[in-house]
Parts: sequence; structure tokens; C-alpha cells
Amino acid sequence: MSADDFKRAAAAAAAQLVEPDMVLGLGTGSTAAHFISLLGERVRDGLYVAAVPTSEDTAKRAALAGIELVEPDEATIIDLAVDGADEVDGRKQLIKGGGGALLREKIIANAARRFVVIADASKKVAELGAFPLPVEIDRFSYGLTVRAVREALIALGFADADVRLRASTVGPAFISDGGNFILDCRLKRLPDAPAVDRALKAIPGVVETGLFIGLADVVILAGPAGVERIG
Ligand code: 5RP
Repeated sequence: MSADDFKRAAAAAAAQLVEPDMVLGLGTGSTAAHFISLLGERVRDGLYVAAVPTSEDTAKRAALAGIELVEPDEATIIDLAVDGADEVDGRKQLIKGGGGALLREKIIANAARRFVVIADASKKVAELGAFPLPVEIDRFSYGLTVRAVREALIALGFADADVRLRASTVGPAFISDGGNFILDCRLKRLPDAPAVDRALKAIPGVVETGLFIGLADVVILAGPAGVERIG
């Protein structure tokens, strides 16, 4: 089986958690896309749910799958949010934002009664940090913010922190759905992820980090050994 098959297997396990009339948060990325496609099959079989998308891409996919979309402000309750991740550790801490949707993903994950993470087992790590940490920043005077991010990381002990503005294939820099830039911070190891999250979020100009700490209720990982559930 390929990594994509495992992503679909994790998504299928999460799809079983969906009940009629739920309001769902729909994540972004290839694993979330499997969940949307599987949910669409159930909707075509008569299941009624409504969903809040975490990106323009997800909104398009969900609409094509026949899933009713609601504006986040119209959804007084989000019963279940399901999303992928770039890295997951044994404490259900995550790095997200590889697809550039981290801000909306974090808003919806935080608002949901239950946040379920789906991934292929290769995303599980003993310690976060090998995947470059995405940080969403305001475009205004972004050079000052980049400098402040670098200085904060150096102060935390990341002497060789490599902070890069995410590039785009269609323009000089990647721009998120919210109109912001994304920095990718190559830190290699993150022994104290909450401390990094706090320090970065204290910088004016930083909108959000891709560290999801204390948000995931359940992590579903699929790999050659089968489906593993944490939480
Ligand atoms: C998007 C994300 C994605 O969930 C993350 O990048 C994982 O993507 P994929 O499911 O394609 O591996 O955080 O911002």
C-alpha cells in the first residue's frame, strides 16, 4: 500500500465518527481531501451534515462532493473537526501548515467540540521539529517580523535557525487565504514546543504558528501495521 492508501485508511476511520446532522470542520491537504471524498459518498447515500471549510481549496472540494457548507459565523457549534498534520508526536502535539492553511485550521480546531487528526503513520515522530515550522505573519513590514522571529528563535537556543519566506509558483511569495505570508522555520528539533509557540506568538506581526498544542483529542494514524488511534 502507498502513503496515499494509508491517508485514505486514516480518513475512512475518521469518517466512521460522523453522525447525522453534525456540523463538521473540514481540514486542508491531501489526507483531509480523502475525508471529504469519503464524506461525500455518505452524503450521496443520504447522510445530512453541514461543514465549515478551512480553506478555499477545501470549500471547492466539499462543494463538488455535494457537502453543504456553512459560514464559520453561522455555525454556532462545530461538533467534529477532522484535519491532517505534517508531524504528530505521542502527546498529540502537531506541526501543521504545510499547505498554508494553518490559521483557519487552528481557528476551526479550537472551536470544535472534538478535533480528530488523520495521517499516514510516517507523520508520527518521537519529537517535533524535523518538518520546518510554518508561521503565518502579516504582510505589513514583514522584514521586521522576520528579524524578530529569527531573534526570538536564537534567544530560545536555535543558534542556526533558518527562517525563510515561503515561495510561490504563481508569484514572488506564497499568500494564505487570509492574505498573509508564511515563514518556514527549519529548527530540526523542538524539545519544548509550547515555549516556541509562546515566544513566537508574542511577536507583533506573527498571526499564528503551526504548532497545535493541546488541541487534538484523537489522532488516527494508518500504516503497514494497521490503524493506530492515540486518545
Ligand atoms: C495544511 C495542513 C495539512 O493538514 C498538512 O500539511 C498535511 O497535509 P497532507 O494531508 O497533504 O499530508 O496543515 O495547512
